[in-house]
This record gives sequence, C-alpha cells and structure tokens, in this order.
Amino acid sequence: MRAAGRVAALTLDAVTPLVKVGVSTLELNDFCERFMREHGAVPATLGYKGYPAASCISRNHVVCHGIPNAEEILQDGDIVNIDVTALLDGFHGDTSRMYGVGNVSAEARALMATTYQAMMAGIETIKSGNYLTAIGAAISQVAEPAGYSVVREYCGHGLGRKFHEDPQVLHYANQEFPSVRLRAGTTLTVEPMINAGTWRTRLHDDGWRVTTADGALSAQYEHTVLVTDTGYELLTASPAGYTGWPYGA
Ligand code: MF3
Ligand code: CO
Ligand code: CO
Repeated sequence: MRAAGRVAALTLDAVTPLVKVGVSTLELNDFCERFMREHGAVPATLGYKGYPAASCISRNHVVCHGIPNAEEILQDGDIVNIDVTALLDGFHGDTSRMYGVGNVSAEARALMATTYQAMMAGIETIKSGNYLTAIGAAISQVAEPAGYSVVREYCGHGLGRKFHEDPQVLHYANQEFPSVRLRAGTTLTVEPMINAGTWRTRLHDDGWRVTTADGALSAQYEHTVLVTDTGYELLTASPAGYTGWPYGA
C-alpha cells in the first residue's frame, strides 16, 4: 500500500508543471498514464465499471469523475482536480489534488484552501479506536462556517486489493454508522468534495461527469490513509513536498 500510494503521489507531483493554459485534459491524462506505467503501475480507473480513462479530471463546477477529453482545453483562471489511482503489485493508491491555471480568482483560491484544510481536519481525527463519524464531523466544521457545503452523494472508501470497499467514509456530519470505530491496519481514503454553493449535484449524460446542481465551483483533495495505533500515516503524501496548488506547486 505504501508503494502504490507513493506512485500515485509521484504522478501528481510530476504532472504539476504541465497544468497550464492551452493544455487539454486528455494530454494531462496521457501523461499520468505513461508515468504510472513507467513506474510499474496500472491506472486502476481504466475500465473500472466501464470508466474509459486513466484519470479523472474535474474542472471548475465539475465535482468529480470528469472524463479527460482532447477538446477540453485549460483556460486562464480554471481550477482543476486531477485524481489518479495507481494499482501496483495488487494494491491501490488513490489521491487527488487541485491545480490552478494562470490567474485564479480569490474566491476560487479560498475554496481550494478551505477544501485542503477540511480534508486534513478529517484526517487528523484518525486513530485506532476513534469513531469513523469523527471524520465527516471535522470536515463539516471547517467547510460550513466558511460558507461552503459538503457533497453528500459521493464518499471516501476503504481500499486495498480492491479499489472501493468498506468502510464508506462520509464527509459530512452524520450518524450513518455511529458505532463503527477505526482499527490499526485499515487503509481508507478521505476525499471531500466542497462546493461554493449547494451540496446538490447533477450527473451528466455521459454517465460519469458530476457537476454542481447550481453551476457553482467545487474543489476536492484526496489522500489514501493508513490507520495506526497512534494516529495515521498518509500513504499518498507528496515525495516532492507538494500538497497541491496553492500549497507550494
Ligand atoms: N478515484 C476515484 C475515487 O477517488 C474513483 C474514480 S472511479 C472511476 O474513488 F471509475 F470514475 F474512475
Ligand atoms: Co480518487
Ligand atoms: Co477514492
């Protein structure tokens, strides 16, 4: 799991300088695919439930699962999430970050910064014996006072030899699984999608692309995390020290 997480994080490090005005989301996807394969991994999204690409690239009001496309060209001011899952020697590493293109508005920057802080607040609650519900509570406590909403229909997940497995990691304050406690050795993702407007979403007719129902901006970060006796270990921490734009990249 450490090795798979490392390849996924290295991929997001490596693609960073390519995220510029004029590049297509397909070019970014193809770079990520080549990079993962050169590091001995397979992009786990390719063919997963029929998904056609090696990454998900979600721009502006796209919440998640944007399919990369040669006609989708990055524009000045865009904010973009790139989500990659490396399958290496039978194990999955799943991570995403936001990237800013050119001159990004103060509003969009604030949304990205708060989304990163919300993800980290959720992760900080993780420790063997702690409640699963603490993750969503902590994320909501960061996102909602800032005036944002937390997407409810898509969640984090356990992963290992499978891409998606129990537990479901809800990112909003909830009592869905009130008695579930985390245990050392479990690996799961925390991947909140935070919207500038309503939390409600719409599924596009391609069967994948999810947008905000009101067209407002959405941001997301994702880490694969190992639960330990003393807390947690980030399996998709950036070897280059990047934590995603606007954090260093
Ligand atoms: N990487 C996404 C996640 O964080 C899942 C994408 S599934 C796909 O769980 F089929 F859309 F690729
Ligand atoms: Co992902
Ligand atoms: Co995930």
